[in-house]
Amino acid sequence: MNMSPWPAHGGQAEALLAHFGLPADHRLEDFSANLNPLGPPAWVSDWLVKQLAGLERYPAPDYGAARQAIAVHHQLQPEQVLLTNGGAEAIFLAAALHAGKRAVVLTPSFGEYARACRAHRLAVTEIALSAPHFALDVDSLLTEVDGIDVLFLCRPNNPTATLIDAPAMEALLDVTASIGCRVVVDEAFVDMVGDTQLESSLLQASLAPLLARYSHLILLHSMTKFYTLPGLRLGYMLADGATINSAESHQPPWSVNHLAAELVAPLLADREFAQRTLQWIANERPRMQQALTKLGLEVVPSHACFFLIRPGAEHAMTSDALFEGLLRRGMLVRHTHSFIGLDGDWLRIALRDGPANQRLLEVIYDCLR
Ligand SMILES: Cc1ncc(COP(=O)(O)O)c(C=O)c1O
Repeated sequence: MNMSPWPAHGGQAEALLAHFGLPADHRLEDFSANLNPLGPPAWVSDWLVKQLAGLERYPAPDYGAARQAIAVHHQLQPEQVLLTNGGAEAIFLAAALHAGKRAVVLTPSFGEYARACRAHRLAVTEIALSAPHFALDVDSLLTEVDGIDVLFLCRPNNPTATLIDAPAMEALLDVTASIGCRVVVDEAFVDMVGDTQLESSLLQASLAPLLARYSHLILLHSMTKFYTLPGLRLGYMLADGATINSAESHQPPWSVNHLAAELVAPLLADREFAQRTLQWIANERPRMQQALTKLGLEVVPSHACFFLIRPGAEHAMTSDALFEGLLRRGMLVRHTHSFIGLDGDWLRIALRDGPANQRLLEVIYDCLR
C-alpha cells in the first residue's frame, strides 16, 4: 500500500490536485509523460478507422508481418523478435524467464523492473547510482553481479536520462557472459537518443547489433513513446531465438491486439516522421538544457526526451516547493517521490513542443523569483 501523501505515479493529476487543495478542473499542461510531442503521425487515426473491420477476427497468433518488419528495422531475424503488449509486458516476460532467481536492478530507475521481478519471485538487489551525475561505474557494478542471474538496465535511463556508453556496455557484456548473468536492457527511449541522421541513429543507439555476439543479452522496446500511442499498447523483445521461444511460452495468446499488431509495419515505414523527430530533438533538447541551466536549475545532461532537474544552490527552494508552484500555475511535472534513490529531491520534466517548453521556462522563472 502507498502510505505517502504523494500519488505513486506522477501523472495522476486528479490525485495531485486534490492533495494540494486545487479544484478538479484546474487547467494543467502535462509535462509529466515522456512522449514524443510530434506524434502520433498524422495518418494514424484514419488508418486505425480503416482497420476496425479486422477486430472481428483473432490476430494471426505469430504476428508474422509485425515480427518481420521489426526484424528488418533492426537487421535481425524474425525469430529474434517477440511482439508484446507494450514495453511493460516485455519487462514482465523478461522477469518470468528468471522466475525464482536473483536479480540486480539499479536505482533510481523505472520501478517496473523490481515490481516484475517480485511478481515472479526473484530476489532483488538494488544498486544505487549517485547524484548528481547518476553515472554507472561498470567496474564496481561488476563486483556486485557475481552469483546474480539477471541484471536489469534502462538505456537511456528513466528518470535520469543518462546513457551508459557503448564501450562500457561491451565491457559489462563480456564479464556477464563469462559468469552466466543475463543482461536485460530496456531501450524504451533509445529511439530518442538522437543522432540527426536516421540510419546512423538506428544502428548506433540501440544495442541490437550486439545480439549477434552476446546470446545472454535481451533488449526491450516500447513503441508507445516514440509514436505517442501509450493507449494502444505496443512493444517488443529482441534476443536470440531460444530466449524468444521461452519468453513466448510465458505470454498469453493474442496478447497484442489486431490494431496494434497491424500498425507496426506502417509505423516503422514512416521514415519522414522518424527523421523529423530526430531533427526536432537534436535542436530542442540542447536548447532546453541550456535554458533550464540558465534559470539556475541543476540539470542532469539528457540523452532522452526528458530532463531530471532540481533548484540549484542559488535558489533557497526545494523540489517539492517548485513542484507545487508549477502545479498552482498550471504546469504538471513529474515528482520523484516514487523513485527509490530520488525520494522527491528532483523533478522530471518531459520535452514538449517549442511553445509549450517556452511557457514552462517562463513559469519556472516566475516560481524561482
Ligand atoms: C523505461 C520504460 N520502459 C518501459 C515503459 C513501458 O512502456 P509501454 O507504454 O510501452 O508499456 C516505460 C513507460 O513509462 C518506461 O518509462
